[in-house]
Amino acid sequence: MQEPVFSGVGAVAPDWFELRSHLPVPSPDGGCRVLPVNAFLLRGREPMLLDTGLAALRTPFMAALEGLLPLEELRWIWISHMDADHVGNLPAVLERAPEARVVTNFLGMGKMALAGLPTDRVHLLEPGGWLTFGDREIVPVRPPYYDAPESIGCFDTATRTLFTVDAFGALLDAPVTEAAAIPDAVLRAGIANWSAIDAPWLAGMGEDYLLRAFDRIERLSPSVILSGHLPAARGMTGALLSHLAAACAQLSADARAA
Ligand SMILES: [Fe+2]
Ligand SMILES: [Fe+2]
Repeated sequence: MQEPVFSGVGAVAPDWFELRSHLPVPSPDGGCRVLPVNAFLLRGREPMLLDTGLAALRTPFMAALEGLLPLEELRWIWISHMDADHVGNLPAVLERAPEARVVTNFLGMGKMALAGLPTDRVHLLEPGGWLTFGDREIVPVRPPYYDAPESIGCFDTATRTLFTVDAFGALLDAPVTEAAAIPDAVLRAGIANWSAIDAPWLAGMGEDYLLRAFDRIERLSPSVILSGHLPAARGMTGALLSHLAAACAQLSADARAA
């Protein structure tokens, strides 16, 4: 199997930057695909890092991050969940960003402790709480699906940027920097393949669950959707929800046929 690759950084919304890497993975349909693995930086009065990338890519990840921001200025590290592809460089970032606090919830903090990570700089998100700094408001959002119960995405009300953690991830034929560059059929198949791997429980969820999850997203009216495992998707909310609905229908049909 090939090694993960760090693919660079790019602006994805005002003040928002994507730190991109990708991981070669076997696909359920045979063959090999690539899974994007993204972290994000929100610059501004109180800079915030969303997730910390893959430990195997520590050197290029940290160099790219420090190229975007002197890490003494970093104030927040939002950890979406404790999977290794999201916390891989957390110790290195904590070491080089002494003023930064880790934003997570109760279960996330517990898993940090179990993993031997320091919890003395945790800013605990209470249920219903949100993060405000300056004139910016970061609202926690439960992703439409997830692979760890502590998963917590967020919505930046100033730029209408929505981060959905692992949701809307897709196995792709090749790395790209914009979801809009992926042919529709490839994106639909990629989302179906990824959701079958990451959230097979979707097969047992009824239509009501999906409608409620979709309604939460549509009411936010995001201008761009960021995922840990999909290139930035601008103005694609309808397309992503349609692809996810198709994936869930397929998972349910496969489960009934099994
Ligand atoms: Fe995950
Ligand atoms: Fe992930």
